[in-house]
Amino acid sequence: MRIRTAVFPVAGLGTRFLPATKTVPKEMLPIVDRPLIQYAVDEAIEAGCDTLVFVTNRYKHAVADYFDKAYELEQKLEKSGKHEQLELIRNVLPAHVRAVFVTQAEALGLGHAVLCAKPVVGDAPFAVLLPDDLIWSRGQGALAQMANHAEATGSSVIAVQDVARAQTGSYGIVDAPTFSGRAGRIEAIVEKPKPADAPSTLAVVGRYILDPRIFGLLETTQTGAGGEIQLTDAIARLLPEAAVDAFRFHGTRFDCGTHLGLIEATVRYALDHEILSAPAAQMMQSALDEMGVTET
Ligand code: G1P
Repeated sequence: MRIRTAVFPVAGLGTRFLPATKTVPKEMLPIVDRPLIQYAVDEAIEAGCDTLVFVTNRYKHAVADYFDKAYELEQKLEKSGKHEQLELIRNVLPAHVRAVFVTQAEALGLGHAVLCAKPVVGDAPFAVLLPDDLIWSRGQGALAQMANHAEATGSSVIAVQDVARAQTGSYGIVDAPTFSGRAGRIEAIVEKPKPADAPSTLAVVGRYILDPRIFGLLETTQTGAGGEIQLTDAIARLLPEAAVDAFRFHGTRFDCGTHLGLIEATVRYALDHEILSAPAAQMMQSALDEMGVTET
């Protein structure tokens, strides 16, 4: 079965990026010319999703506004013949895609945010995308790759990548001892273990395709790491009931929840941009030269 619904938990406070995130949600921070959320949305649409569920809070009007029709702006652009720009704002969401907004009244954790989407998702497998994790790929996007695997096998699928052992405390970590190609059956999953306790160094990246049975499990999942209701803990309880595969996607992931990750993504997308690439490379080179930054 092909997934049709994608859930975007976007209710986080984004305190790492204060003061910028005092008024601008972190999902609206731009990489070159598009906000982070747009990259995740495009990836979901490419994977075949036509219902996008944004789990927001009352401070995140900017996300809903962004996906709404901007009548005045469209009229102005039309009058002044700026057709290219008009297309850009019209194509934020293609006509066949609908956006649904659900409120997470309290910040009780990622698991709780996903549970808030239950009334919209219903009883079919669905995707979860964390827009902080930006995945750059020349070919097919990460979620489309995962959706193909889910469709072929009927498994739930979780994106993973190898990290340094010292970093396990920042991720969900899976134990998937045998891989065949890009996928390996998950035998255990644990949220943010200390390096010494981590079952492996295979870390969860923010892309999931989940069996809807996860909702029933989330309803009874107690608070876990960081005092929050963790999606990872509900997935751990799904393992005895359903096949869940770790998937090593093809692509590069940038952790845009950190300053360095956001900078890295900006540099990479600028260098990959069809018009900006050469001038951006030149500008970076002169900045390095002028600032006296040398290789270490
Ligand atoms: C969340 C998940 C974690 C996952 C990570 C990926 O953590 O809880 O399992 O590895 O996203 O970005 P967060 O980064 O929201 O603390």
